[in-house]
Amino acid sequence: MSFRLQPAPPARPNRCQLFGPGSRPAIFEKMAGSAADVINLDLEDSVAPNDKDHARKNIIEAIGDIDWGTKTLSVRINGLDTPYWYRDVVGLLENASERLDQIMIPKVGNAGDIYAVDALATAVEAAKGRGKRIDFEVIIESAAGIAHVEEIAAASPRMAAMSLGAADFAASMGMATTGIGGTQENYYMIRDGQKHWSDPWHWAQTAIVAACRTHGVLPVDGPFGDFSDDEGFRAQALRSATLGVVGKWAIHPKQVALANEVFTPSAEAVAEAKEILGAMEEAKASGAGATVYKGRLVDIASIKQAEVIVKQSELIGG
Ligand code: COA
Ligand code: MG
Repeated sequence: MSFRLQPAPPARPNRCQLFGPGSRPAIFEKMAGSAADVINLDLEDSVAPNDKDHARKNIIEAIGDIDWGTKTLSVRINGLDTPYWYRDVVGLLENASERLDQIMIPKVGNAGDIYAVDALATAVEAAKGRGKRIDFEVIIESAAGIAHVEEIAAASPRMAAMSLGAADFAASMGMATTGIGGTQENYYMIRDGQKHWSDPWHWAQTAIVAACRTHGVLPVDGPFGDFSDDEGFRAQALRSATLGVVGKWAIHPKQVALANEVFTPSAEAVAEAKEILGAMEEAKASGAGATVYKGRLVDIASIKQAEVIVKQSELIGG
């Protein structure tokens, strides 16, 4: 470990972020009643330009009127390349109740984007005497975003979470796909005449996880567009979880249970992690730094790996 210790990310469950358009208030109660840990009411790409003002008003009312339980409540604002975003920030922070936890900034390209929203949010919060500081989450979904991912993660103490937005990312990178995440038909290798599909999102996800873990931010996997493909969603989510990602978006309510299933450590995984911790306690008591568990090496690093699983399970249980 470097002299500078890795900061802990926000201690909250973030297994699933359920999205819904701000222009469709009929589903807000259903979102609040879902099993998602985080709710994202959208002002950006699921809302048509003529509906932006109306959607903002719906969202501001719903933040105060609906019982959102213990969920993290977030609103996705419009991008900084649009004429809408400043009204989103000012409108929300001047008028929404303090039940609002977070705003999501899409298409961030560099730390300056975060600085701009931070400056505006700080001024409105002070002017309105808001007691609770709003957190930020961002979407990395452009070439500039991934190129500057670390400075973005470090850009503000408000930074709480960071998602990969596969569709806009693919477009910005010029990738030859129209799919929203998941396996891509043409991304394969050949071995013994057989195709083996690989993961075109791997590098971006890993870069996001590294930036997030360096700066105490939660790394999240974004949307999986084909909501009739449960197996495809599960495979993508399992790959993300394996890389250190803590949760995934749901763009349809049927994806919530899938995300919760993948990002909740299984009882077997938790039991095994606790056994490893027990084995290492015994090893330490006898002065050893390493021991054998089920025929394989476990050592001091295994303690940290096991603790990730146990802590995640405690967080969700709590
Ligand atoms: N959250 C909660 N409930 C939702 C929902 C959502 N995002 N989307 C649909 N539902 C409800 C429907 O109202 C319906 O409820 P009912 O059984 O009580 O009638 C039920 O879930 C089944 O909905 P279904 O008919 O399968 O879907 P739909 O055609 O109404 O909507 C989408 C499909 C994809 C348009 C819709 O899910 C949606 O808008 N998703 C979010 C899109 C978004 O926010 N994108 C931005 C991020 S990428
Ligand atoms: Mg997008």
